[in-house]
Amino acid sequence: MKHIDIYKIFEDKDLLDTQVVVCGWVRTSRDSKNMAFIELNDGTTLKHLQIVIDKAQMSDITEFMKLGTSLKVSGKLVKSAVAQDSVEINAENIEVLGVCPPEYPLQKKRHTLEYLRTIPHLRVRTNTFNAVLRVRSVVSACIHEFFQARRFTYIHTPLITASDCEGAGEMFKVTTIGYSNDYKTEEDYNADDFFGRRAALSVSGQLEGEVAAMALGKIYTFGPSFRAEKSNTPRHVAEFWHVEPEVAFAELPDIIEIAEDLIKHIINSVLEKCPQELDFFDRLFEKGLIEKLKAVVSNDFAVMTYTEAIDVLKKSGKEFQYPVEWGCDLQTEHERYISEEVCKRPVFLTDYPKEIKSFYMKQNADGKTVAATDLLVPGVGEIIGCSEREADLDKLLDAMQKRGMNLQDYEHYIALRRFGSVPHSGFGLGLERIIMYVTGVQNIRDVILYPRTVGNIS
Ligand code: 4AD
Repeated sequence: MKHIDIYKIFEDKDLLDTQVVVCGWVRTSRDSKNMAFIELNDGTTLKHLQIVIDKAQMSDITEFMKLGTSLKVSGKLVKSAVAQDSVEINAENIEVLGVCPPEYPLQKKRHTLEYLRTIPHLRVRTNTFNAVLRVRSVVSACIHEFFQARRFTYIHTPLITASDCEGAGEMFKVTTIGYSNDYKTEEDYNADDFFGRRAALSVSGQLEGEVAAMALGKIYTFGPSFRAEKSNTPRHVAEFWHVEPEVAFAELPDIIEIAEDLIKHIINSVLEKCPQELDFFDRLFEKGLIEKLKAVVSNDFAVMTYTEAIDVLKKSGKEFQYPVEWGCDLQTEHERYISEEVCKRPVFLTDYPKEIKSFYMKQNADGKTVAATDLLVPGVGEIIGCSEREADLDKLLDAMQKRGMNLQDYEHYIALRRFGSVPHSGFGLGLERIIMYVTGVQNIRDVILYPRTVGNIS
């Protein structure tokens, strides 16, 4: 007989009082005089299924009771004796699929997230990761739904690149040449390498995304980006998943509207499809999470210029670790103050000084700022980086030259401004950051299967 997923056991009312087979791992077990109880989980739902064993019917149950053991159980599905509206299986036959010795590390009911990070191959078997990974899956699918429903074309941009999109030089080098003293200059070394020039893992698919948008109008990419920044914070990983739409004929307010709609679509999808998971996170990670999410989808996001934000920060009377002056890069403490204490909701900060932003952003008429915005959310900080792109060839070249960039590396990008240039805009949303926001999980290392951070590639 084929086994049935445990989520179906709970959902399909027709299965009640029938013979069923389920498979899963033992999460908890309890032995009493005549009866024994096992909570089984197969990963298809957060809920554990209770297996009831009549000890008079089964001789040796020792192996079944060990946490982490994988079992195949057959028996009758009946109404739970104690929990209303729930079901349990009266076991008739239990087969051990894989034994699990007492060294299995998940013996306690709750382990700290720090400890769980040391066992990434096993922490997936906890309720937290069961819930996080399902929310992550639902969010990923609904991002595709959002763009597909609006006729955006899904583009796969290269992961290996010769150009640095963000110009911050925080790229992982791609090379096939090992350690060697044979080369006199870096140029010789690069010339001898696989591509004949310097290559790296991409920090963003934007530059190639713009190429595609200049033909297909509305595109999005959704894949990994890599950053070798050595910021060991709860919000940075070296490999993250990046959603990047790029839209032709769109100016900054148009792309802001799309970004807000996308965030609301993601939250609505999670509210609809992950009620059990959200309830779990609301109880154990962020009290009031569900209320917060409902409020976010039913209110407009705030919009504030960088200049206004500097003013608010200066007048706040708060002692910030990093002093605030017009032209400074905002630190996490400033971003959090603006979104958490001033706006108390997601806020688009717009029109940053051009010196602290990337070369590709459209220069505003004031000569000082660019048409860029970051979406800041309470608790997490920046989750989206967004801008209208500089569509004017001369202004783009000027910005690149002022930054000392090698124009040859960006030949295609520059050519887009020669051949039928149009106003266009796009943004990058960090998947892990939005997962942190919708789950209340505070460390990015806990919303990804294998976090890659400085000094850690376990
Ligand atoms: O603001 P960023 O650097 O923007 C870009 O990369 C643009 N090229 C995007 C575009 O316009 N197409 O990054 C965008 C988002 C951030 O807001 C953040 O959510 C996420 O990517 N991000 C990271 N997430 C986790 N770890 C890191 N090290 C991240 N760096 C950026």
